[in-house]
Amino acid sequence: MKKVLKRGIGRGLTNYGDPDFSRYIRRAFAKSMGYSDGELDRPIIGIANSGSGFNSCHQNFDDLTEALKRGILSGGGIPIEFPTISLGEIFTSPTTMMFRNLMAMDTEEMIRAQPMDGVVLLGGCDKTVPAQLMGAISVDIPTICLVAGPMMTGTYQGERLGACTDCRQYWIKYRADEVDSNQIETINDQLCATTGTCMVMGTASTMAALAEALGLMLPGGASIPAVMADRRRQAEATGRTLLDLVAADLTPSRILDRRSFENAITVLMAIGGSTNAVIHLTAIAKRAGIQLTLNDFDHHSKITPVLVDVKPNGQNYMEDLWRSGGIPIVMKEIEDLLQTDVMTVTGSTVGQNLARVETPSSWQKVIRPRQSPLVSDGGLVPVFGNLAPDGAIIKKSAASPHLLHHRGPAIVFDSVEDLYHRLDDSDLPVTQDHVLVLRNVGPIGGPGMPEVGNLSIPKKLLQQGIRDMVRISDARMSGTAFGTIVLHVAPESAIGGPLALVEDGDLVELDVVNRKLDLHLPEQVLAQRRENLILPSPHFQRGYGKLFQDHVEQADQGCDFDFLSVSVQLPDEEDRSSVRLGSGE
Ligand code: FES
Repeated sequence: MKKVLKRGIGRGLTNYGDPDFSRYIRRAFAKSMGYSDGELDRPIIGIANSGSGFNSCHQNFDDLTEALKRGILSGGGIPIEFPTISLGEIFTSPTTMMFRNLMAMDTEEMIRAQPMDGVVLLGGCDKTVPAQLMGAISVDIPTICLVAGPMMTGTYQGERLGACTDCRQYWIKYRADEVDSNQIETINDQLCATTGTCMVMGTASTMAALAEALGLMLPGGASIPAVMADRRRQAEATGRTLLDLVAADLTPSRILDRRSFENAITVLMAIGGSTNAVIHLTAIAKRAGIQLTLNDFDHHSKITPVLVDVKPNGQNYMEDLWRSGGIPIVMKEIEDLLQTDVMTVTGSTVGQNLARVETPSSWQKVIRPRQSPLVSDGGLVPVFGNLAPDGAIIKKSAASPHLLHHRGPAIVFDSVEDLYHRLDDSDLPVTQDHVLVLRNVGPIGGPGMPEVGNLSIPKKLLQQGIRDMVRISDARMSGTAFGTIVLHVAPESAIGGPLALVEDGDLVELDVVNRKLDLHLPEQVLAQRRENLILPSPHFQRGYGKLFQDHVEQADQGCDFDFLSVSVQLPDEEDRSSVRLGSGE
């Protein structure tokens, strides 16, 4: 009888009531795939492949998988690829956010159910990276992230173009009649010039950067463009490194602690990252048994300058950030704000990794030096008040300075459909001083908290040259969007949050410096409205939608399912510091 293996093919046996028989027939079926006994003794590395014909951002996954497999084989392992749900942002209805937790469950359960000693998470598009991290952290086997990498830019009349900040900028110009229908079609050809993820500091780029900051990706891996040979070499190195992790049993729970997440928040602020990252990072941390609050984000926001001059905050693109040295150079520039003694997948600490970083000769155009930041502090800022008792978030670095303290009358839209039908109505009594309020677009109300929080400016104001107004909702917005936009209001209106009580003409005050968002109405008026409030009917009676509706948490809690954010047991400091990898010493 073949010796019993507790790893690789011998892990997690199918239950036939006789473990020896389970091992015996598993080997027989593995041989049907051409594996010989000797090969099956090696560690098995799963590749969680989220490629799909419905995901334009992941079209380079065949190339990356080939390079990953080369690295895994050269490291002494057996690569086995398996599919998971893919979430292509632009091809998923009503919104990918509704399925992030489904993908996290799929990833978690397929890693746990299938015999693998380590796993590469191959993702990229917005929700895929957080979903994969949530799932893999919950399983806790050695794990490394590899992302698709950003697209390269296109050009239109000598100007560089990229998805999707420029998609939005040109759509605004089209709505304002500054660009005609022929021009907008020509531009459409150039917005997504190659495969890869959106090439600005949107959610995909942000989450890749945070995976790197958490220590779960090889240094430099976040910003390499999808089409560059460096991206494939990164894949090869990822595969090889994972074998070292398996040998050292360096699992996510032995890498991540509260300091890792504080580093990630600091990097989030320094890159001027997506508001979506606040939700995702909170959910990922909870899977690691760590509770983040909006006050944690506020603390780091106050002390961290925005350094990365990439759209939508700045003028450049991800390929420029890569040429400037990428996230390692950003982290080096804020090294004093990071906790450098935390472990990473290299087997070295953050500080040891940074000591090895070579600084390119001219990086300062895209990554600003500390003494001349893009914004001195406060990339993402939470606000609280009687309109958002559990908080809301605003991307201050992409907002208009003159609107950061604004008081104005509300114009309320009850749904996306209501907004679509009335926003451009010439009779809508709207001025630039109004505050646009959109409700019933939160996690439950949306459903799925769609990226509709960056409400369009009414056409008649666009034609007057108005480009920004205060907008408030319980929705999210794309990380590529910009404007004075308050998002993630919690609790959401569909469950009776105060946004549900606002009426046209009510005075709303946003005061970003003092972190306030208030509705100026006496408490007895609010109480009266609360009593008369009729909540919208539930969207779902069955299936995944019903599960989502019944169990999704609010934005400030990360929008995970209430039954999933159960922590793994983290080892103590001494145990974590005893980890040593061959490649990292
Ligand atoms: Fe996939 Fe933007 S649509 S990253």
